[in-house]
Amino acid sequence: MVKSKAEARGLSMKEKPVIYLDNAATSWPKPPGVLEAMERTMREAAANPGRGSHEMAVKASRVLFEGRKALSRLFRIANPNDIAFMLNTTHALNQAIQGLLEPGDHVVTTAMEHNSVRRPLEALRRKLGIKITYLPVGADGVLNPNDVKKAILPETKLVAVTHSSNLLGTITPVGDIGNVTRMAGIPLLVDAAQSAGVLEIDVEGMNIDLLAFPGHKGLMGPQGTGGLYIRPELELEPLMHGGTGSRSESPEQPSTRPDRYEAGTPNTTGIAGLTAGVKFVLGETVGRIHEKELQLTRELMAGLKEIPGLRILGPGPEQERTAIVAFTLEGIDPSETAFLLDRQYGIAVRSGFHCTPLGHESAGTTETGAVRASPGYFTERSDIVSLIKAVQEIGETLRT
Ligand code: ALA
Repeated sequence: MVKSKAEARGLSMKEKPVIYLDNAATSWPKPPGVLEAMERTMREAAANPGRGSHEMAVKASRVLFEGRKALSRLFRIANPNDIAFMLNTTHALNQAIQGLLEPGDHVVTTAMEHNSVRRPLEALRRKLGIKITYLPVGADGVLNPNDVKKAILPETKLVAVTHSSNLLGTITPVGDIGNVTRMAGIPLLVDAAQSAGVLEIDVEGMNIDLLAFPGHKGLMGPQGTGGLYIRPELELEPLMHGGTGSRSESPEQPSTRPDRYEAGTPNTTGIAGLTAGVKFVLGETVGRIHEKELQLTRELMAGLKEIPGLRILGPGPEQERTAIVAFTLEGIDPSETAFLLDRQYGIAVRSGFHCTPLGHESAGTTETGAVRASPGYFTERSDIVSLIKAVQEIGETLRT
């Protein structure tokens, strides 16, 4: 195995309890209620929901219903059946994009999108000949709603924006964009991968037509959970066809929701965990969670910016952002920094391109990528202090 520069310099590699700062990828730890709900469901309700009338099957159906109800409260959705459970945000985005677009359609999106928006769109460009406009953003990632308005064409069938950049933490003015799209009569798809559970989302107030969200990040549920809200007036072609436990005599996918978009046995146990996570978020409140995470983020930014050669990407400390701090250290490979943070200091961060090559173009980091630290609700101030100290030491060690 090739030795890292640090190993070559004789830095010892030792195990430490993990300081987890990779919450933008998957939040950790989870509230205790999440584990308890999953264990309880596995013991008492792990039958097939919607496919039988026996007691355990009914209990399993109730688990899904409770989940839809809790999510509806969080996102102010009038009818819980307008939420379809999905495996993750990528699954939800693919359902929205592939279920809506047809040959010749045009889509307006941004240069901040994750590959989970860009790749399905590009696949449809190849397959169906759709046209795509990627709106540029500044180095801080801020999108101007007027640019959305100007980019709309007669054949525009979708506007797709991330609510918060997974690279820069920038917050998109979704409400303002919703006003533009509603006036134009074009569906608005919001990628809430980094915002669900940490920023207020009101699908009615913000004119959101399609909301794709993960269960395993800000909603504090397990991996393999997430969902898509679909405005009642919108009809999508299902991404998957198959058994739903309803209208079994018909060769067609049912038109009733949520069955239309939920073929196959769902992740009932995972959804029980997700529901407990959502209830935790509702109890703590999104406002308090965001406030705490923003405070930690600002402390992190203040400490990091004192380190020579360190550049923080995205909005300045005075601007609002989600708890994402991506940075580069001049002359040092971000993967080397992340490796050392893990092995030498027991600090988990992510490095590289974060599935958003266009975002790196906007930030001017296409050649290098970046290190990304993402605090969560359970991060402590001492974790932030440890990260700042570790990055400082890495900078000093690798530059000498
Ligand atoms: N999309 C997740 C991230 O940004 C996995 O890390």
